[in-house]
Amino acid sequence: MNGIILSGGLGTRLSPLTDAVSKQLLPVYDKPMIYYSISTLMNFNIKKILIITRPDHLESYKKLLGTGRQFGIKIDYEIQKSPRGIAESLIIAEEFIKNNKVLLILGDNIFYGLNYKFYKINSLKKDFGARIFTYKVDNPSRYGVVQLEKNNIISIEEKPKKPKSNLVATGMYLFDQNAVKYAKTLKPSKRGELEITDLNTIYLKKKKLKSLQLNEGSVWLDAGTFNSLLQASQYVQTIQERHNILVNHPYDIAKRKKWI
Ligand code: G1P
Repeated sequence: MNGIILSGGLGTRLSPLTDAVSKQLLPVYDKPMIYYSISTLMNFNIKKILIITRPDHLESYKKLLGTGRQFGIKIDYEIQKSPRGIAESLIIAEEFIKNNKVLLILGDNIFYGLNYKFYKINSLKKDFGARIFTYKVDNPSRYGVVQLEKNNIISIEEKPKKPKSNLVATGMYLFDQNAVKYAKTLKPSKRGELEITDLNTIYLKKKKLKSLQLNEGSVWLDAGTFNSLLQASQYVQTIQERHNILVNHPYDIAKRKKWI
């Protein structure tokens, strides 16, 4: 399986921090934000990663991460010219994905404490459809909201005013080899983006969309606002100091997995 990290966007909610620096390179306690997403992919045993970023930030990413060899992985880069949506990243990644399944993660999403083996993502067969990693939150209107009935998804709505549940789509998605083909049929939404929720809706209509709820005790943080960025840093600092471990450090994971 291959992994894609979408690290684009304008980061307007974090201006002026993001006026000259890519949001996903800002520090979350002691590491750049994108280290956390790279670590999540590595923990799923994904070694081939495509980072998609803005043209003006590409050099910074290359300087920070290079080929990925220092982490025992291979990193390639592509450009998203303007923020035209999460689903566009699959079209941009067409050559990279080829006919493989792919795990797509946003560069500003921090996952910790996942039971990686539990999700069995490496044993998914061809045409398995799509999986969204979901999490219960208090403020669902900010996200893609998922409604379940007997563990089956019956609806998914992007930022609804009246959410039908408090279960939301995190920024991590798993797709079969049809994703690029379906993404190419999408039309831009009102905010001018190819919505990942619209792509997931295509899978839902084909009865091929399933929710993987994050296991109890795991944490999902998105670091896109001043408060959530500070909270993420404080969370990482607390865990690291109390347990004397490194949270989501690619180098540390590579050593444990004997990839370097
Ligand atoms: C995007 C998705 C949304 C998802 C969220 C997770 O929202 O559109 O469905 O719940 O990421 O972070 P955006 O960050 O583009 O507002």
